[in-house]
Amino acid sequence: MRISVVGCGYVGLVTGGCLAETGHEVVCTDNDPVRVETLQAGKVPIYEPHLDTILAATRQAGRLSFTGNGGEAVRAGEAIFICVGTPPLETGEADLSAIDNVARMIATEARGPKLVIEKSTVPAQTGQQLKRALTVYGRNAAVAFRVASNPEFLREGTAVEDFLHPDRIVVGVEDQTTEQQLREIYRPILEGRFNCPVHSPACPPALTPSLLVTTINSAELIKHASNSYLGLKISYANVIADLCERLGADVEEVTRAIGLDPRIGPQFLRAGLGFGGFCLPKDIQAFIRLAERAGVDFGLLKEAERVNRRRMDQFVEKVRRALWVVKDKQVGVLGLAFKPNTDDIRFAPAIELIGRLLAQGARVRACDPEAMEKTRAVYPHIAYSHDPYEIARDADALLIITEWEDFRDLDWKRIHSLMARPLVIDGRNLLAPAAMKALGFEYHSFGRPD
Ligand code: UGA
Repeated sequence: MRISVVGCGYVGLVTGGCLAETGHEVVCTDNDPVRVETLQAGKVPIYEPHLDTILAATRQAGRLSFTGNGGEAVRAGEAIFICVGTPPLETGEADLSAIDNVARMIATEARGPKLVIEKSTVPAQTGQQLKRALTVYGRNAAVAFRVASNPEFLREGTAVEDFLHPDRIVVGVEDQTTEQQLREIYRPILEGRFNCPVHSPACPPALTPSLLVTTINSAELIKHASNSYLGLKISYANVIADLCERLGADVEEVTRAIGLDPRIGPQFLRAGLGFGGFCLPKDIQAFIRLAERAGVDFGLLKEAERVNRRRMDQFVEKVRRALWVVKDKQVGVLGLAFKPNTDDIRFAPAIELIGRLLAQGARVRACDPEAMEKTRAVYPHIAYSHDPYEIARDADALLIITEWEDFRDLDWKRIHSLMARPLVIDGRNLLAPAAMKALGFEYHSFGRPD
């Protein structure tokens, strides 16, 4: 099928690349000319495992292209995926202005019927507004638009794998033609007919993903409800961690046991600095506001958000308690991205932490396998090194903020010998307390005996 993707952020690129990988002809566009030029030059502006491979392969096969001409892109596809950002407004509500702009562009540039699919995360009832906008902005009453919601559940760092091997595909539709068209788009994925760039030589056996057909309103709500539940689960684990600290229990032991109950499940019970990134924090806020508007008190989510915001205060307090005086101390920050295997620093705990450390007069050096360039744009004056051992040299404390495997695998004995004071405060419970203690470190983490 001929498909257009509007918005070349992380969701748009993964969607465009994976749909091209599964045999469709895809044209992607973005209103940032620099981004389009970068992509046309064969460079990928974000770090996401396997994305560069599929973008290069599908471009070479002639199934994927990038254009700065939005009208051209709109006219190219029978189906148009809207993948633009919906960042938070000051109120916490989602800013839908990019969706509105895209609706205007589609309505004015389309010359034939289009299926317009929301992939961006949007509050329930946006589909109705989108349908209205397409009609209002359209100049040609003969050009018909159908609207669908197709929320994405992929995670940064494993986005390509998640797109090609989803646990579910949700399509919110109003008619059978739209349902059929979406089934057609996802048929190669549902039937496992594509060259998987992630698994070689063959994908591990897995259950066939289910395609769930819902109303548009339900599909939109499913996305917010899923992300909010994940945030809720993390905050729950974090409060358990606080309790463990007070009562002398070990949160890893507790969450492992809780997670073995299949009704609860083991994932998203990792205690630590809490959830960051461009999805969970903003989606929880938007969901709370949506509920408020609908007259439903979602106090449960408000509390989860409050717990999450407090994580950083608690971490900074751990640092202060351990260092006593923070001013003039040499502090090494290991990890800048909001999670491993990405270079995304949006709403990353490290960004807030560095700001707080600098405000207290610390001398900060930072290291991340992928996210240093983006962080340099925010903090140009702190020191960076690709080499964690350089970060450790003469440091008064090392703070682990992102759980990159590379950090787990460091030669911690060597680090001990390099530091001015062997103090490690682990915001992600990445290392084993007993092993660190055996090496002679003063080691603090969340919810585990020091
Ligand atoms: C999240 C959802 O997991 C995806 O399903 C969704 O598609 C995506 O948002 C989106 O809306 O686009 P993502 O933001 O990539 O994906 O990251 P997560 O893996 O959900 O992690 C979010 C944050 O929670 C990270 O800061 C991570 O460190 C933290 N986290 C995660 C914990 O603190 N504990 C855990 O047990 C798990």
